[in-house]
Amino acid sequence: DPLVITDKEEMRKWSRAMRSQGKLIGLVPTMGFLHQGHLSLVSQAHKHSNVVVVSIYVNPGQFSPTEDLSTYPSDFDGDIKKLMSVPGGVDVVFHPYNLYDYENQSKNGVGDGDGVVMSCIEKSGTGHETWVRVEKLEKGLCGNSRPVFFRGVATVVTKLFNIVEPDVTVFGKKDYQQWRIIQRMVRDLDFSIKVIGVEVSRENDGLAMSSRNVHLSPEERAKALSINKSLLRAKSAANDGQIQCEKLRNLVIQCITNAGGKIDYAEIVDQNSLEKVESIKGPVVFCVAAWFGKVRLIDNMEINL
Ligand code: PAJ
Repeated sequence: DPLVITDKEEMRKWSRAMRSQGKLIGLVPTMGFLHQGHLSLVSQAHKHSNVVVVSIYVNPGQFSPTEDLSTYPSDFDGDIKKLMSVPGGVDVVFHPYNLYDYENQSKNGVGDGDGVVMSCIEKSGTGHETWVRVEKLEKGLCGNSRPVFFRGVATVVTKLFNIVEPDVTVFGKKDYQQWRIIQRMVRDLDFSIKVIGVEVSRENDGLAMSSRNVHLSPEERAKALSINKSLLRAKSAANDGQIQCEKLRNLVIQCITNAGGKIDYAEIVDQNSLEKVESIKGPVVFCVAAWFGKVRLIDNMEINL
């Protein structure tokens, strides 16, 4: 069984003990309710480190008060079983109760920073007021409809890096913008951590695995297949010479809309800068977010012509 650590000081002590034995520490940050996609990150972590820590923490800092924090699914015991099924298992599951519960809690201090919408942390008034922001990359794509999301992710990942002190960390390319933001943050803030990106894990029918998929009704789930299907179509159209992004976007938007999904965004962006492109001249990624009922799903497809 993996060691379950809930206390951050204990976590740091464990990591430092490992480091003093010359072990390379791998960290896979998650919010739990694990699926094969998460487990593929754990397998990658084993390839690049000697001991593997998986964190399971639903971070209130990245949810706005109107988002699905309270309904985010969890199954801690199931997660432990799944982690044990991975070859090599995991060494530690870091499962803190509250990463924002500081000694001197202030009940005031409910500001919304520099005009940014509030997250659940500010609403809870824990007195936390330091945020990490990757200013350009956090804008656009998911940043448009979720304005507090990426500063919450960058901040909690920074906290996890400072607590676990890993040598290697593994992120999924399913959350493409998140992966790029973490890479940039590690570079810009001189974290001595190698960031590894892992391909999207999909169900047999192509649906990108996500903890949120459990909230889809069977009908919604069937409709949601339009995301991957249309992205594959767009990719093959691009391979066949259609490099006008407007055309490719319309193809995807129509297909998803016809299936009954509501588009949040469908953008073709540069793989590194995540800036929109008008025609495909270099490596791009087609990123989509769409609602099926009350569930917001994201997916993407790299196109390397
Ligand atoms: P969560 O959604 O649990 O995802 C944890 C990690 O698993 C992320 O790196 C994500 O990209 C990866 N992942 C999820 N679904 C995947 C799939 N189908 N294929 C490949 N990788 C997949 O992302 C978060 O949690 C949080 O924002 C977190 C980074 C933990 C910060 O709170």
